[in-house]
Amino acid sequence: MKVLDGIQALREWQSTVTPLSAPRTLGLVPTMGALHEGHLALVRRARAECDLVCVSVFVNPTQFGPGEDLASYPRDRARDSELAAEVGADAVWFARAEEVYPAGFATRIELPSLANRLCGIERPHHFPGVALIVLKLLHLFRPTHAYFGEKDYQQSVLVTRMVRDLDLDLAIVTCPIVREESGLARSSRNVGLSEAGRMAAGTLSAGLFRAQMAYAEGVVDAAALIGEVVAEIGDQKVALEFIELVDRETLEPLETVDPALGARLLIAGRVEKVRLIDNVPLGGPEA
Ligand code: PAJ
Repeated sequence: MKVLDGIQALREWQSTVTPLSAPRTLGLVPTMGALHEGHLALVRRARAECDLVCVSVFVNPTQFGPGEDLASYPRDRARDSELAAEVGADAVWFARAEEVYPAGFATRIELPSLANRLCGIERPHHFPGVALIVLKLLHLFRPTHAYFGEKDYQQSVLVTRMVRDLDLDLAIVTCPIVREESGLARSSRNVGLSEAGRMAAGTLSAGLFRAQMAYAEGVVDAAALIGEVVAEIGDQKVALEFIELVDRETLEPLETVDPALGARLLIAGRVEKVRLIDNVPLGGPEA
């Protein structure tokens, strides 16, 4: 596996792999590193579907707001390279913020109707920063497939919309959430939880599963489904940011689930100092 550093190295690698005798597919897995099973599932999927697989590792400053964990975000280049190689990536790419955003950088990408809700309320910087870096990565790598996790559901909806709106010629592949045994969605930030914190964090996914069960028994009302999640969290120390039932594509809030269309139930909250997000599908084509 090639370890690539910066934009020039990426272009050189591309020139060695792209004089194509036959059309080849390239799968890109964009990450911020601190790779775990959630990321690796995306790489494995890309490996199964594409001729070439690249993992990008870039802790993107524009998607962090002031006072967020940009400085303390876990970084471990050697381990990330090792893990990417183990699951069969052809290349892993690292970049420095000064190269990605040189002095004078002025471009902004906004999808306000998708960004200014759910996680975007508490983190107004976040989705414009995500859209900008993802678009830049798609231009740099020119992948035929790019892989995203449903863990960051709002992000995956936004990226899918951006690609459609701009007629970018690639497939966005979204992959299911990888969870710990407790049900807790895997996240680079989970390392910040104490033992008690993990217990409290586990009630987020348990609450969502309980809502799924209620839905399976015929409950379609948003307030009742959200009530199931709240009941499961009980008196655990979770500072809830939101629990919302939304349309799967527009992210507009819903009052009830139409079983044919389906819906997504999303949650965000803080346990100790760790911000956690999770979501589940209810009904719809994928049920
Ligand atoms: P990061 O948080 O590193 O996540 C990279 C990708 O892995 C995202 O698509 C995310 O949804 C997916 N992922 C993380 N945990 C997962 C889990 N438990 N199950 C399934 N997929 C999971 O998301 C970002 O980075 C950034 O915003 C990025 C897209 C790289 C832009 O900077």
